[in-house]
Formats: sequence, C-alpha cells, structure tokens
Amino acid sequence: MTRTPVVAGNWKMNTTVPEAVALVDAMLNELPFIGGVEKVLCPPLISLDAVRNRVTGTDILLGAQNAYWEPKGAFTGEVSVAMLPGLVDYVIVGHSERRQYFHETDEEVNRKLRAALGAGLRVIMCVGESLAENEMGHAESFVEAQIRAGLAEIASFDRVVVAYEPIWAIGTGRAATPDVAGRIIGHIRSVVRALVGEQADALRILYGGSIAPDNFPPFMAHPEIDGGLVGGASLRADSFLALARQAAEAKPG
Ligand code: PGA
Repeated sequence: MTRTPVVAGNWKMNTTVPEAVALVDAMLNELPFIGGVEKVLCPPLISLDAVRNRVTGTDILLGAQNAYWEPKGAFTGEVSVAMLPGLVDYVIVGHSERRQYFHETDEEVNRKLRAALGAGLRVIMCVGESLAENEMGHAESFVEAQIRAGLAEIASFDRVVVAYEPIWAIGTGRAATPDVAGRIIGHIRSVVRALVGEQADALRILYGGSIAPDNFPPFMAHPEIDGGLVGGASLRADSFLALARQAAEAKPG
C-alpha cells in the first residue's frame, strides 16, 4: 500500500496578512514543483483568502487551524466548518494547543471532525500525550482513547489524516525519536484497523513535534510515518521547502 506523504505547515497564530502573503510568495517558485507529496499550508484564518489567491492554479492545498461545528448562528467570534469549503481543503481539529488552552474535549473534536467531513472538507485530527502521561508509560493507551473518541461514528476515512504530536515535543526542540513515533503511529493504525478494517492501510498518519530539516529524514524513512505536521519550521520558506523535498524523496510513489 503506497500512501502519498503529506507535509502540512501549521503557522499557528503567526503572520499578519502581508507577512502571510510574503511567506507563501517565498515558496511559490519551488513548492508547486515538488511532486509526490501533498503540501498543505495552514495560515491564520484572516490570511486564508489572500493566500488562496496566491496558490490558485498550483497543487498547494490550504487548511484552517480550527472551526466550529454549528453551521451558523449566535456564536460570536467563531467561524463554522460550513463557511470553509471553497476557501480551504483541510481543517485541523484537536490540536493539543486547542485542547490545552481552549479546553477542547474529545467529544468536541469528534463533533468538529464529523461536521467538517459533512461539509466536504478533509481533516487533520491531532492526538498526543503529555510528558506526564509519557513518563508513566501511558502514551499508547492515552492516544488510543483520543483516537477512539475522536473518530467515533466515522465510517469513511478517505478524507481523514491523523497527526501524532506528543505535547512534550511541540515547540520544544525536543522531537520524539523516529522509533518511538513509528511505534505509536503503528499502534494508532492497529486501533483504526480494529475499528474500520483495511481502510487503516490507506490512512495517512503524520508525526509532529519539533520537526526540522535536520531531523526529518529518519522519521520519513520509517514505514509507518506518512509525513509531518510542522509548526516552527513551516514559518520559513527554505525549511518548509526542504521538508517537502525530504518527504517526497523518502516515499517515492
Ligand atoms: P512545532 O509544532 O513543529 O513547532 O513543534 C508542531 C505543531 O504543533 O503542529
């Protein structure tokens, strides 16, 4: 089973609109010409329209970093998944920063995921354990519970990507090892296989947490790891381009 690798840049709450346009412009000479890898940019919501205009006609995909499941209504400050088709291809749900700082629960992650799939979007669902859970040896069981709850009532995984992002590795410069990440991603795949059978073999599962061009190739070389969800290193054109190239080279279709 070949799975096309994915490299997704999560810009988080960085870049003004002009900065976002400058960042995508700095990638445009090369990024569309790196084949064999799906390239996804997730700028802040207010920059999506401007970035969309720059990438139109290329194979670069866009993602939102979050969205609300209700289609419309009195929810001041929220943007619904129903508003996103046409603007983005993907939406990220369940990022650990949303779980940690905005108290999102597994049930809410699942509602977002189902609403996004219902709106025709693709989804990157994030899971990952804290340092405390990791040190207690609970990484697998913690992530398994997030997977079971987050993916509840999903019958088709065609438009689902999972990202395993151990919280202790995000933004810390302390990435997991490819072996550990590969083992947990393998566990995630076996949990999904138990839920939905052989669709699990086609599911792309990414690693995220302090990915950079100097540590990414061994992750990509691991047979279970299908790409990366990248924070800090996606804010520089040269490093994001390098990561896209490395992903394509590691898993030639
Ligand atoms: P990082 O963030 O690459 O800066 O560690 C990854 C993420 O949070 O998606």
